[in-house]
Amino acid sequence: MTEFAARVEQVSISGIREVFEAAGEDAINLGLGQPDFPTPAHARRGAIEAIEAGRTDAYTSNKGTRSLREAIATKYDREYGIDVDPADVVATSGGSEALHLALEAHVDPGEEVIFPDPGFVSYDALTNIAGGTPKPVGLRDDLTLDPATVEDAITDETAAFVVNSPANPTGAVQSEADMREFARIADEHDVLCLSDEVYERIVFEGEHHSPLKFAETDNVVVVSACSKTYSMTGWRLGWVVGSERRIERMLRVHQYAQACASAPAQYAAEAALTGPQEPVEEMVAAFEERRDLVVDGLEDAGLEVPTPSGAFYVMPKVPEGWCEEVLERDVVVVPGDAFGANGEGYARLSYATSTEALKEALEIIDDATRAVR
Ligand SMILES: Cc1ncc(COP(=O)(O)O)c(C=O)c1O
Repeated sequence: MTEFAARVEQVSISGIREVFEAAGEDAINLGLGQPDFPTPAHARRGAIEAIEAGRTDAYTSNKGTRSLREAIATKYDREYGIDVDPADVVATSGGSEALHLALEAHVDPGEEVIFPDPGFVSYDALTNIAGGTPKPVGLRDDLTLDPATVEDAITDETAAFVVNSPANPTGAVQSEADMREFARIADEHDVLCLSDEVYERIVFEGEHHSPLKFAETDNVVVVSACSKTYSMTGWRLGWVVGSERRIERMLRVHQYAQACASAPAQYAAEAALTGPQEPVEEMVAAFEERRDLVVDGLEDAGLEVPTPSGAFYVMPKVPEGWCEEVLERDVVVVPGDAFGANGEGYARLSYATSTEALKEALEIIDDATRAVR
């Protein structure tokens, strides 16, 4: 009998789904990993016009249309002063596929991948799928990743380390000094720094910095997407940026697994990137207001809350039994250990939901917190 591949047997379906399934129909959902805003009208129109003009019926180039890759390259110059050649970009089916390409192309069986714990669930799963060995590392008290922790964890077997800023599930934003350190570590140890920047535009305090800007070698690969910035999670459009030789290896995987990203999504993404950016600014302003509301509410309930500076998540420390009490009262939150062993004793709350729903949820949370104290 054909057995299932050991790589895949190590991976389980995300624990987040189980929480959603346990919740009642009328539950307030603070578990969502996507913005609660519409995709900007000009992005939708970009796809509609391309479809109607018959430009989306065929495969595009494997890397994606030249005009989308130019729009992505222009974005890096405009926002960060980073020079990217459109030839060194592959458009992917979301940031998820981009992460997969990067790990498939760089990780040999048994090699180690270092990533933040708590961290985005895909890092562990995609490392296993690539045949690698996950090496989760803990965070500072403010839930940022300390470059020294990463450097200490590097061994001769290390293929890559993942940096994710702003971060899921913590909302933490790495400082420029940290990003410079990550670049130095990638250079000096000659290991790949995989920088997951899908929340790059959702920053409230300070600015997003990419280690790509600081590295002196080609040891940084950047993953990003339209998913969070333009509320386009359903469109499935992301990308990976790297040096020519790294892109060529990642393209080998993409070419056979995906052929090309969906053509309508590529046109929508191009329009999103080149059109007015006000919808992004409005969304970020709304998230910042909600962040303040939620942090205040959780602190008033007596919880310790590392203040998130980006994304749309907050990760308070919670007493034992807290998640169950909150879930029983029909507010969906995700237990921190769904994001790694070090997430135990925390919970992730997404505030990508209306202010009224958040206010109602905070009252329920106050009540639930009292019940477990
Ligand atoms: C940190 C992080 N990276 C990557 C992704 C994948 O995003 P996409 O929807 O573009 O595949 C997510 C989605 O939640 C995420 O939180």
